[in-house]
Amino acid sequence: MRTTNNLVSEAWTLLEKSIIYYHGRPIGTVAAMDPGLNALNYDQCFVRDFVLSALAFLMNGKPEIVRNFLVETLAMQSHEPQIDSFKPGPGLMPASFKVEFQDGEEYLIADFGEHAIAKVPPIDSGLWWIILLRAYVKFTDDISLLHQREFQQGIKLILQMCLVHRFAMYPTMLVPDGSFMIDRRMGVYEHPLEIQVLFYAALRASKELLLPNEENASCIHSVNQRLASLTYHLREYYWIDLNRLNEIYRFKGDEFGKEVANRFNIYANSIPTWLTEWLPDTGGYLAGNLGPGRMDFRFFTVGNMMAIITSLASEQESQSIMNLIEQRWSDLVGYMPMKICFPALEGMEWRIVTGCDPKNIPWSYHNGGNWPVLLWLVVAAAQKTNRLELAHKAIEIAEIRLMQDKWPEYYDGKNGRLIGKQARIYQTWTIGGYLVAKELISNPSHLELLCFDFE
Ligand code: GLC
Repeated sequence: MRTTNNLVSEAWTLLEKSIIYYHGRPIGTVAAMDPGLNALNYDQCFVRDFVLSALAFLMNGKPEIVRNFLVETLAMQSHEPQIDSFKPGPGLMPASFKVEFQDGEEYLIADFGEHAIAKVPPIDSGLWWIILLRAYVKFTDDISLLHQREFQQGIKLILQMCLVHRFAMYPTMLVPDGSFMIDRRMGVYEHPLEIQVLFYAALRASKELLLPNEENASCIHSVNQRLASLTYHLREYYWIDLNRLNEIYRFKGDEFGKEVANRFNIYANSIPTWLTEWLPDTGGYLAGNLGPGRMDFRFFTVGNMMAIITSLASEQESQSIMNLIEQRWSDLVGYMPMKICFPALEGMEWRIVTGCDPKNIPWSYHNGGNWPVLLWLVVAAAQKTNRLELAHKAIEIAEIRLMQDKWPEYYDGKNGRLIGKQARIYQTWTIGGYLVAKELISNPSHLELLCFDFE
């Protein structure tokens, strides 16, 4: 009989097998090793997916592949992506890359979204890159890498893209639809929580990573300013609990002027009917999005869990988010930890918001599917809030399925009981996410690689 010990060693064997080598050196991991399905771009190393492999390797004392990855992806910043004759800008980090052979030589080919379905820009890549660089430096103390001119410059290039003044009235970053883990149209444009929390974490990490010298002074100044207003904005306006919901419900509309309660002109009628019954007395969460006249009340996992881990959410709010998960367990965790977002878009809303996307039908894939890669986030958030029983419960549930299902990419159905319709098997970040969750349990101090203090 297979045991969970076997499962961990199977996961390590698979993770090692997924490594991509360049000139004989490990530099990344492929997204999936599914022998059955057409590879599409799953044979590439995705930056966001690699974060999980990287954390697993770091926590297991193998930083070399992470260093190589950081060096090689940084060099890709100088590639000039182009769509038709348009160039998106020098601070963009690739979504993914692969090694190609030409005339017996190896080349690294990066994709900044020019090849991706619907040509989506991977805005999260640069943010994750900074977060990972901090974790690597924290783990290895490799200050000499961090102090290299190219690295200091690379951080600043990413930040410049994020901090540039566009037509924005809010400190949150204005982004197009599908610019992160959800890389298809899903109504996650404008100011999605997922990007804003990564933005916050990347700004906090940059404060630690940028050398306090004259060359960096103006960038550090902008980082500090933006961080203060971004933090205030997210804490003040994205938070939802029963009290806040009552306020929104009684909001006046069409208020003019500076000091109004209903800052963004949210109409009470836009509160979805499911929410008033669903929200527990002691639960709360950060809303999925906030824009003019628009509050997206969906629950998004990466944003909420990362808000806990990075201390964007206060201690009390973090407890409320964990209360919500505990009390709405079958909706948010079900048979596989855990849902990417809740609830799914259905009917006419699905037609309009996703553009009739057949991969994102209700309760599938990005539209309310369950993603095993998210296991590590529940475990990390549970550790941070001292709710270990939830971490253990989540791992136990995941292990039962992962043991028999060959590490699928995602699960479908209201409670995540079905293997995703188009899910790959042997999906690397499913494997990496599981290993990170297990490493965190056996050595809780690893959590520090991703945490920040309350400020
Ligand atoms: C899908 C996911 C994306 C992921 C990629 C590789 O495109 O939407 O988040 O990075 O697969 O696993």
